[in-house]
Amino acid sequence: MVFFAPGNARKSIALFDTTLRDGEQTPGVSFTTEQKVEIAGQLAGIGVKIIEAGFPASSAEEREAVRAIVAAGTGAEICGLARMRRDDVDACLDCDVDMIHLFIPTSKVQREHTVRMSMDEVLAATAEVVGYAREHVDHVLFSPMDATRTDWDDLVRACRTAVEAGATVVNIPDTVGVMTPSAMKELITHVVKEVKAPIDVHCHNDFGLAVANTLAAVEAGASQVQVTVNGMGERAGNADLAQTVMALEAIYGIGTGVETSRLVETSRLVSRHANFAVPSLQPVVGENAFAHESGIHAHGVLEHPETFEPGVMTPEMVGHRRRIKFGKHAGRHAVSQMLADVHLTPTDAQLDQILEKVKAFSGRGRRVTDADLYAIAEEVVGMG
Ligand code: KIV
Ligand code: ZN
Repeated sequence: MVFFAPGNARKSIALFDTTLRDGEQTPGVSFTTEQKVEIAGQLAGIGVKIIEAGFPASSAEEREAVRAIVAAGTGAEICGLARMRRDDVDACLDCDVDMIHLFIPTSKVQREHTVRMSMDEVLAATAEVVGYAREHVDHVLFSPMDATRTDWDDLVRACRTAVEAGATVVNIPDTVGVMTPSAMKELITHVVKEVKAPIDVHCHNDFGLAVANTLAAVEAGASQVQVTVNGMGERAGNADLAQTVMALEAIYGIGTGVETSRLVETSRLVSRHANFAVPSLQPVVGENAFAHESGIHAHGVLEHPETFEPGVMTPEMVGHRRRIKFGKHAGRHAVSQMLADVHLTPTDAQLDQILEKVKAFSGRGRRVTDADLYAIAEEVVGMG
């Protein structure tokens, strides 16, 4: 069942993963070259088609890592990031990437306070450097940085200049995450109409709206979306890969080419290499994503999982497992079912005692693990 099939959206969406570039900009995160190669292999293995491997001009180590990812031959298209400068393009070419992602600020605040360029200078640099890059690679992605705070006429002029110079895809970055889904839909509808190229989006999560804004862009006709594993990235991060993929696949019925049953495994691999703990409440991949505690919910899902789960997204679909958690909201049905699985069959009176003990245990602020539950039950049954 698909809940929502919007008119302008495509039947399939290309995923552009930037875990190894924007994701590595998460404060405190730094991957080794070996870890980057492993992550790139994992991403390509689950079906991600484009991987932004790094920013080659930033350092010799970064170039070495990007080269190693290219040499690994993952099967995905490998992209390198570059400022709007020929020497940055050369650094990408030196790594033999398949695609160059060229960015330049277009909003007034960023033009005036970062690169100190007028809009005309931005347009001239774009025409010159995009053209130069296209002489050497078939795929050039253009990003007018801070697009969502850029005057719309300036934005369209920048995008058209890039496309005329040879850009093959135009990315609209919500660099500081200030969009709302309705504003994003309006902007992307305008850009799709005015710019004759495939449109990509890169949404930051400053207000927790990155995934919602990405989906709104898809509704408006974007054909490519940028994501990171676990939503990593600058400040509050980027649109999360697992959430975006599952919303597209399960809610919209839009194909992403991703083997969704490996999403949890991918999240855990990146979490381990980044030394970055995924919150238990994280949708799709978090420990609690398919965990049920209250008696009513646990009873419901044991009867029929769709009672308190989306149904269109099951734990198996994402490589997770359903868990019944026992705490102060534990119910008789879930506890007795859990005990029956390990051949413990308390009487009604014993079950009451077990429940009382479970609630007292968790009331002291402790989590009741399966092993705790079995120990409590064995004690009660043994005493009976
Ligand atoms: O957030 C941003 O604008 C970026 C660009 C490099 C696309 O990461
Ligand atoms: Zn970014």
